[in-house]
Amino acid sequence: MELRSDAVVFFGVTGDLVAKKLFPALYELTRRGRLDLPVIGVARSRWDDQQLITAARKSVVEANDRVDDEAFDRLAGNLTMISGDYADPATYQHLAEALSTAERPLFYLAIPPTVFGAVVDGLAAVGLAARGRVVVEKPFGHDLASSYELNDALRAAFAPERIFRIDHYLGKESVEGLRVFRFANRLFEPLWNAEHIDNVQITLAEGFGTEGRAGFYDRMGATRDVLQNHMLQVVALLAMEPPTGAGDDAFREEEVRVLRQVEPLSPDSTVRGQYAGYTDEPGVAPDSRTETFVATRLRVNSPRWAGVPFYLRTGKLMPGTATEVVVEFKAPQRDLVPAADGAGTQPNLLRFRLGRNDGITLSIQAKDPGAEVSSRPVELPVDFDAALGHRREAYERLLDDALDGRHLRFAREDAIEQEWRIVEPVLDLTEPVASYPKGSWGPADAEAMAGGWHPPTLR
Ligand code: BG6
Repeated sequence: MELRSDAVVFFGVTGDLVAKKLFPALYELTRRGRLDLPVIGVARSRWDDQQLITAARKSVVEANDRVDDEAFDRLAGNLTMISGDYADPATYQHLAEALSTAERPLFYLAIPPTVFGAVVDGLAAVGLAARGRVVVEKPFGHDLASSYELNDALRAAFAPERIFRIDHYLGKESVEGLRVFRFANRLFEPLWNAEHIDNVQITLAEGFGTEGRAGFYDRMGATRDVLQNHMLQVVALLAMEPPTGAGDDAFREEEVRVLRQVEPLSPDSTVRGQYAGYTDEPGVAPDSRTETFVATRLRVNSPRWAGVPFYLRTGKLMPGTATEVVVEFKAPQRDLVPAADGAGTQPNLLRFRLGRNDGITLSIQAKDPGAEVSSRPVELPVDFDAALGHRREAYERLLDDALDGRHLRFAREDAIEQEWRIVEPVLDLTEPVASYPKGSWGPADAEAMAGGWHPPTLR
């Protein structure tokens, strides 16, 4: 059992991620009695402690209907700020003084990858890396080659077991639920293969745009931002074989094994789109070819999935927000019951809602009322919030895990490298991206891709 960290430092504390996710996570951990240690914010902006506290309070108020003032005050009492340039050795000297009594500090790099190297070197130079853990936010590099460089830089300063790579989808209860669904239920396991499944569709749709971070997003695009990481992790959970043993290590090993079996994406079966008006946004290059939408077909080269396409699509400014997997089963072997509307029997669909309204819906055929024996689809829905109660947010769970030095919910280095290998052929394509209207499902070619997508449940 690893010892829990005794201080936590956020590089990039004035940024978007800390405001949206990490302050609320710190507050929640404090409220539950899981966090009472020095929390130091580092940023180039000249903030004092009070500004840090004010920013934290604003985030916590925005994320919660009701704030427990006593808990917030406890968090505020632990917050301090260090302003300084990431390339300036003085920044790290100040930090080392502030952490003089901390034996196992956790360093959270909520900063662009371009400054990872400077921060890691700075921490190493004052001896902090040797006794600390580091949490790295995605993107882990820009492509396969740069992910190797990033790993080399991290490993030069931190021992491998002290490096934590965040893919926050791994911290979501709903995504972890896929593991439970697959391996704690006998019901679907015999059907979970090419003999019974026709195709799998994964949609990560967002009803909003780049939300004030267009400059960052423009260097990224949808493939690097979410397809390479969040969506491929979901593919791995759906497609993996049962682990050879019961432990977490065996599970993680199997996840990586299936990623190795995924064929590299092909530009011919990939559609990239950009919403109309994107290039007018501040921070976006006027001639930008960055995709705000991507749809693709991938294949898992394993006997279980022979010939089964996995369709993936993600985009900004879609008709609504949803992260949903639809598993489409094959039609019955014999067509013995006609469909009520004469349109042909609808396939059984198993939907995993992985977003805010998480749950599962199974569509089955039921008898259409009346004199004729015909079928029509009905849905068996489960809403996890109603069935299981409130679950903790991904960032709260991940931060708690990192403080404890627990790796299960962090991305493995070899998994990330496989993910880059898979997307590499569709990165940096030079063809123009197809424009799509805001609030649509992307370019027409993408709509046609899965033979018509099953519309996800929007919120
Ligand atoms: C982040 C991306 O990693 O994931 C964002 O950078 C995206 O662009 C977000 O909006 C989606 O996460 P979630 O948890 O809201 O589905």
